Amino acid sequence: MNRPADTSSQPVVIVGAGLAGLTVALHLAKTLPVVVLAKRQLDEGATAWAQGGIVGVLGSDDSIESHVRDTQEAGAGLVDEDTARYIARHSAEAVAWLVERGVPFSADPEGPLGLHLTREGGHAVRRIAHAADATGKAIHDVLLAEVKRHPNITLRERWMALDLITSRHLRREESPRCYGIYALDIDRQRVETLPARAVVLATGGAGKVYRYTTNPDTSTGDGIAMAWRAGCRVANMEFVQFHPTCLYHPQERNFLITEALRGEGGQLKLPDGTRFMPNHDARGELAPRDIVARAIDFEMKKHGLDYVLLDATQLGAAFLKEHFPTIHSRCLQLGIDITSQPIPVVPAAHYTCGGVVTDLSGRSDLPGLYAVGETTYTGLHGANRLASNSLLECVVLGRSCADDILSHPAADEPGLPPWDESQVENADEQVVIAHNWDELRLLMWNYVGIVRTTKRLERALHRIKLLKTEIDDYYANFRVNRDLLELRNLVDCAELIVRSALMRQESRGLHYSRDFPNTLPVSFPTVLVRRARSRKDKVYGLSG
Ligand code: FAD
Ligand code: SIN
Repeated sequence: MNRPADTSSQPVVIVGAGLAGLTVALHLAKTLPVVVLAKRQLDEGATAWAQGGIVGVLGSDDSIESHVRDTQEAGAGLVDEDTARYIARHSAEAVAWLVERGVPFSADPEGPLGLHLTREGGHAVRRIAHAADATGKAIHDVLLAEVKRHPNITLRERWMALDLITSRHLRREESPRCYGIYALDIDRQRVETLPARAVVLATGGAGKVYRYTTNPDTSTGDGIAMAWRAGCRVANMEFVQFHPTCLYHPQERNFLITEALRGEGGQLKLPDGTRFMPNHDARGELAPRDIVARAIDFEMKKHGLDYVLLDATQLGAAFLKEHFPTIHSRCLQLGIDITSQPIPVVPAAHYTCGGVVTDLSGRSDLPGLYAVGETTYTGLHGANRLASNSLLECVVLGRSCADDILSHPAADEPGLPPWDESQVENADEQVVIAHNWDELRLLMWNYVGIVRTTKRLERALHRIKLLKTEIDDYYANFRVNRDLLELRNLVDCAELIVRSALMRQESRGLHYSRDFPNTLPVSFPTVLVRRARSRKDKVYGLSG
């Protein structure tokens, strides 16, 4: 029998070393021991790839209300106003916290806090603090260095959380709670049991579920899938944001061309040089992302194009080299001189607006389990995230999550069962995994993309169910590895996206259905609830 453990010194386990995970870790570590896991290298993740910047309501021409309004407008009627206001109110403090840590934001001696502020689609004013066009890397480098120096933080690189340990894993009756995680130590090929005072999911989004994405390899929806399997609610998964401008080039599949380039005056054109955005929206290239991505999709289909062009040449060579050095040099390596040539671009899956339902302290439905960052649904993004609100959400709610953990005493830990590998053998056919990865991502791209129909969604669901059966079978019989675990999570996320999309019988924000082209006068978030019934799970959809 497993004996209860002494929990007083147990660490908080944070799954993920992006901006969300590192923010929680730094706020907690003054008081508690912390373990941070990253399933690949510590610097891999969406955070280090962020280009445009982070929102700060700082300018004298700006206000909390203006930012809340822009967030609501982009979010197409589904933004939770209290969440948006809380995050806007804490934005200046969040940017100041990063400045204090030493993040080298682009400077403007005349600007608020000495910062240069840029502009992006959907924002009424300049309010984006940035480090040229590599803001995420500038932030991540500074926070990671601080975390590495911290005596209270242990980093576990190439450790992958595979499932949460909850009351369901215990032999005797306990009230529902999360007690820790099982994690695969990838280099040693061993699954370890990590008891935790609290677990924080900071695993990022699920962009890899699509064939074309701006996301890194880490974005496989692990936190969403783990929380869902543990019985937590998941909301708004149909709202997948497609970024309008991903570079189109045979050697570079997922390089983003920041929205700030359009913010500064870049124009979208057809190959013959005609501008098309003014025909779609009065705001032209500065319309919210869902509108711009759909307009590009429409023009590509209408003219049979593989891509459209983003022309920034009119901004001048000196300006482009100073403000967009990363894009300038990467494009130059690929033979495109952005100072004299337009850039070929296509839309690609970029951001998961839905996720694990949490409150403003990152609390999920399961006591002991928190979630922060892109893996969550907090109500901020509604039906379409406003640019540069994501990094902000990580910093503001990362702090409130840490405060909440610190305000609760440790619970008794009842002694956790070790991972059981007695019934499994080494995988024989890795090709099954590789094939299913490709099949899933292609079917999501073709059937569950920017423009949807009920028939295609139903086809997608049918295929996903078949894939799920095959993967569950594989999982039950073979020793786990990262590819299999990620595929299992991606399939769960794909099912959540399709089920949510089928439930939304209207078009709104990022969800556009040809069968339901109108926007209903009143609408609610799509909340999925999983209830275990006998041996079969059932999915319920709720609104409101
Ligand atoms: P991530 O930064 O993605 O970190 C996830 C972490 O979790 C990684 O360390 C990963 O290894 C780890 N992980 C995942 N699963 C597991 C597991 N099972 N076990 C262990 N570890 C795991 N937003 C903005 O606000 N402004 C921008 O300018 C901007 N630009 C962007 C540009 C690009 C190209 C992309 C892709 C996104 C951009 N975004 C931007 C969105 C933003 O970068 C992300 O939403 C944000 O960084 C997410 O942070 P996160 O900490 O939640 O996740
Ligand atoms: C970009 O720089 O265009 C990305 C900004 C974001 O996703 O918020």
